[in-house]
Amino acid sequence: MLIAESISHTYPNGVEALREFSLCVTRGQFVAIVGPSGCGKSTLLRIIAGLIQPSAGEVWLDGEHITQPSSRIGMMFQDAALLPWRTVEQNIRLPLELGGRAARSVSSTMGHLPIPDLIHLVGLAGFEHAYPRELSGGMAQRVALARALITHPPVLLLDEPFGALDAMTRENLTASVEGILRETGTTAVMVTHSIAEAVFLADQVVVCSPRPGSVVGSVQVGLPRPRAWAMESWPEFGSLVGRVRELLAQPAPTTSRAELPTR
Ligand SMILES: Nc1ncnc2c1ncn2[C@@H]1O[C@H](COP(=O)(O)OP(=O)(O)OP(=O)(O)O)[C@@H](O)[C@H]1O
Ligand SMILES: [Mg+2]
Repeated sequence: MLIAESISHTYPNGVEALREFSLCVTRGQFVAIVGPSGCGKSTLLRIIAGLIQPSAGEVWLDGEHITQPSSRIGMMFQDAALLPWRTVEQNIRLPLELGGRAARSVSSTMGHLPIPDLIHLVGLAGFEHAYPRELSGGMAQRVALARALITHPPVLLLDEPFGALDAMTRENLTASVEGILRETGTTAVMVTHSIAEAVFLADQVVVCSPRPGSVVGSVQVGLPRPRAWAMESWPEFGSLVGRVRELLAQPAPTTSRAELPTR
């Protein structure tokens, strides 16, 4: 469904961020990307989102060549970036207003959830009319999630969306994201620094080499869904975490060919 084919990117200042990074995500799959800081993960997500053009390589979504932002690809960042003068509900509604008729028609043809249902889904019922300053960090991220889902994008890109939150809020939110994406059938690619979070959420964990980023290897996660944090104590969970760690510890490949390993 979503294919990033041999993506290379060098910024105008000469920094080579990515080298032949390839990724293949099937419909409804959750892929987590982990890798050292600065290896080009955010660059990759921005390229998939059509926000920047790669120096080489192509992104395809259902046979469509992605070269600019599309209402079919939603994105959520580490910072919720809510508009302080708008209520929770008004913030969530924003993409419908910005996208104009195109976004509205996409959401109606895709049968999007009515706003009250979406607010309920992300656990913010009762806070529709609250302002961002009245929310906790976790609640603000829930608003950002609802805002990213309002146009019902078939693909959601998440760049360390819970990085700024405390461990407990993060675990709760991760578990609800797992449920929400499963219920809405959303395909997701998420960057995270937490190996446990990657294993908890993903069907496939892709490990990125140090800069210039390419795929070191990937680990298939066959844990049943719905996932629960109690699974963290399962031996299988531990061995998956161990395999991701091993891949992270591998030296950068000497060849530039980024294979798409299936394990
Ligand atoms: N706009 C830019 N112009 C020039 N260089 C950039 C730009 N954005 C990122 N870089 C460089 O590209 C490399 C990859 O950056 P990127 O933000 O993609 O890494 P990352 O894997 O997301 O890192 P982190 O895990 O710390 O978020 C870094 O060396 C960074 O300095
Ligand atoms: Mg980043």
